Amino acid sequence: MNETITQQLREYVNDIFVREDELLAFVRQQTAEHGLPQINLQPHEGLMVQLFVRMCAARKVVEVGALAGYSAIWIARALPSDGRLITIDKSSQHCALARAHIQRAGLADKVSVLQGDGRQILDKLAVDAPFDALFVDADKVSYPHYFSWAAEHLRCGGIVMAHNAFWGGQILSPQSEDDYGLVRFNQMLAEHPAFESTIIEVGDGLALGVKVD
Ligand SMILES: C[S@@+](CC[C@H](N)C(=O)[O-])C[C@H]1O[C@@H](n2cnc3c(N)ncnc32)[C@H](O)[C@@H]1O
Repeated sequence: MNETITQQLREYVNDIFVREDELLAFVRQQTAEHGLPQINLQPHEGLMVQLFVRMCAARKVVEVGALAGYSAIWIARALPSDGRLITIDKSSQHCALARAHIQRAGLADKVSVLQGDGRQILDKLAVDAPFDALFVDADKVSYPHYFSWAAEHLRCGGIVMAHNAFWGGQILSPQSEDDYGLVRFNQMLAEHPAFESTIIEVGDGLALGVKVD
């Protein structure tokens, strides 16, 4: 298929499946207005993450990398009434904005925003394992650590998802620590005997692994 047709098909899918409501659009707009980097998921990626959370009937989910709460809102909307999302961010400014947006979305009962380093907070959360899903969208050097945590603390049938698995193509000729973080993460995911996994060619690559053992 040529690139024009591929682009038209992407637009077709976005037109008929992706529903970004006013609240989610507001969160993206506020992210820019507060001077935060606009590195949140795109709406079609948010939908995909939401679908996977629903498909594994998740009730207990952890996200590393909240930013302004955009992806957290997509995820939390897929949870049942007794479901819970814990989203982690090292930035106090990002956490404050995420909390405000989650409150505005009517999801404050389901979502806790924890400020701190992803590795340290995940270590503390381990006592509440097993979890149903982990979504990773933060510091790239720590992706391998986040995968190890998922391998240990997800239930059988639980899923790990990671944004930026293609890292703009830099995984093909890695140079920086971040590049190697992604390369190592993708290899760990591909080779771990307890996971069935792939990278979905959406956006910058969405890595997905299901714990089957
Ligand atoms: C790409 S943004 C997350 C976007 C968000 N998932 C969304 O789609 O709306 C990455 C976030 O990770 C946070 N972050 C970076 N390093 C971190 C770390 N070591 N621990 C926790 N959060 C971290 C940053 O402050 C930033 O808000």
